[in-house]
Amino acid sequence: MATPSVLFVCLGNICRSPTAEAIFRQQLEQAGLEDKILVDSAGTGDWHIGSAPDSRAQSAALKRGYNMKNLRARQVSVDDFARFTYIVAMDFSNRDNLLSLASTSDDSAAQQKISLMLSHHGETSLQEVPDPYYGGDNGFDQVIDLLEIACAGLLTHIRD
Ligand code: 4NP
Repeated sequence: MATPSVLFVCLGNICRSPTAEAIFRQQLEQAGLEDKILVDSAGTGDWHIGSAPDSRAQSAALKRGYNMKNLRARQVSVDDFARFTYIVAMDFSNRDNLLSLASTSDDSAAQQKISLMLSHHGETSLQEVPDPYYGGDNGFDQVIDLLEIACAGLLTHIRD
């Protein structure tokens, strides 16, 4: 089977999806799977292309043991549907944007690759990872709480 690959997607690629990438990478390392599953993140928007993650996201992540200072934002493209096996959206708006992009892909399985991040969580009534960009610092901690569990659920799903 081809190497599984995961692309986490949010709006700006500077808060939620790079945090998901950093958490998932660490879980892969802890499981000894860092060479077996590819990980990346991207944004549906183009405003922050080339930027490091938001400083509030970085400091909240660092306090929990995740270093993401070397990540740089990029925009999702239609080629990502050929490159990745799992494309994971943080909220409904990201998912809707991905579904429209998928409809322009040559890959007939493109739409089926898309899931919502919190569909892998299993213990929350939330369906979307809240966007912390315009909120207070504790929004970033809540994002990490949600992503740690959802990333673990996604990893279990891929391993199964
Ligand atoms: P993210 O958060 O989608 O989790 O990276 C945002 C980052 C930037 C903006 C919105 C959300 N923005 O409007 O620039």
